Amino acid sequence: METSNHPKIIEQLNTYHPGMNLSEQYQYVRNYSVEICEPLQREDYVVQPVVDVSPPKWHLAHCTWFWEEFILAKYQHGYTRFHPRYSFLFNSYYNAVGDRVLRLHRGNMSRPTVDEILAYRLYVDQHMMEFLKTIPDEVKELVELGLNHEQQHQELLVTDIKYILGHNPLFSTYRTDFQETSLNETDHAFLDIKEDIYTIGYSGSGFSFDNEHRQHKMYLNNFSIRKSLVTNGEYLQFIEAGGYHNPQYWHTDGWTWVQEHKIDAPLYWYLMDGKWNRYAMSGLESIDPLEPVTHVSFYEAYAFAEWKKMRLPTEFEWEAASTHLDWGKRWEHTNSAYLPYPGFAKADGAIGEYNGKFMINQMVLRGASVVTPTGHSRNTYRNFFQPNLRWQFTGIRLCKK
Ligand SMILES: [Fe+2]
Repeated sequence: METSNHPKIIEQLNTYHPGMNLSEQYQYVRNYSVEICEPLQREDYVVQPVVDVSPPKWHLAHCTWFWEEFILAKYQHGYTRFHPRYSFLFNSYYNAVGDRVLRLHRGNMSRPTVDEILAYRLYVDQHMMEFLKTIPDEVKELVELGLNHEQQHQELLVTDIKYILGHNPLFSTYRTDFQETSLNETDHAFLDIKEDIYTIGYSGSGFSFDNEHRQHKMYLNNFSIRKSLVTNGEYLQFIEAGGYHNPQYWHTDGWTWVQEHKIDAPLYWYLMDGKWNRYAMSGLESIDPLEPVTHVSFYEAYAFAEWKKMRLPTEFEWEAASTHLDWGKRWEHTNSAYLPYPGFAKADGAIGEYNGKFMINQMVLRGASVVTPTGHSRNTYRNFFQPNLRWQFTGIRLCKK
């Protein structure tokens, strides 16, 4: 994965290193969630501009709830919850845990205050640090899941903060030193991958999510995949060629989405005095034609590929080619539906709801983005979103047809 020349905040997003013990890993991950929010004003913590974007305050509380619900309440003898109603407020989607505030209403909760949520974090952290001193072996895997869960929310925190600030006409800066890309995309050569039987899925000894299992074999035909991601400059050509006005490039659903929402550019692109600008975490900037395009939906990625007379890779092709690719800047759209691998099995109870129940009506994205904690992803990692969503740092890699 690309690591050189990353901006300061991305270095901070570096995950715990293998030398750390579990308590140190826990502290490292927990502290970083709060640090991400430090540039915010109190008002920024509360708003929910669209259903997919949760208030930063909610993320801070929900990650804490995860530790309380799945570890402390279950395994810490005599543990008393910080607040009896917080499970209702901060459960995200676990039906097995019970009723909860509707996702759409997360931004309606002016209480608990940010300070109360920080006190909640401190309370849970103190109990977790005690618990980790004598953690039973059978709970260690669940703690690893909790760490990876919080890292996923760290990425969501950054992307949700961007949405909140980037959809306010003041276009306030998050941090002036925050760079959203490290390298320009200049090598447009294609890599030829030989037909063969490839092994897909995770089989190592480190952490992995259940959706990366089971490992299985898959035959792939010869294919050619581009070394670099699609750039802003190339995407601008698509816009200028009328790509958003020609239904021949689009799925029916995508075309309906374009029409209904009057889509004519990636998210955060603004045409000002005849020039394209984009909102970035460091403020409003003119488009850099050599940077990888970002904040495009699957619908747009597909239409762009059609216009180029190319296609998106399948997730299996992506995985087979990944060791030869410089990936990690953008979540890369694939033309694969999010489905269970052969032999996939959900865990019993609430934890089984983590991934499996979302395997419908979503597409897989591979890689990692510039705001994914380094080391959190791997070449078997399967991210997934609905085809119209684009507030994550998504990008496009092409295959020849
Ligand atoms: Fe969550």
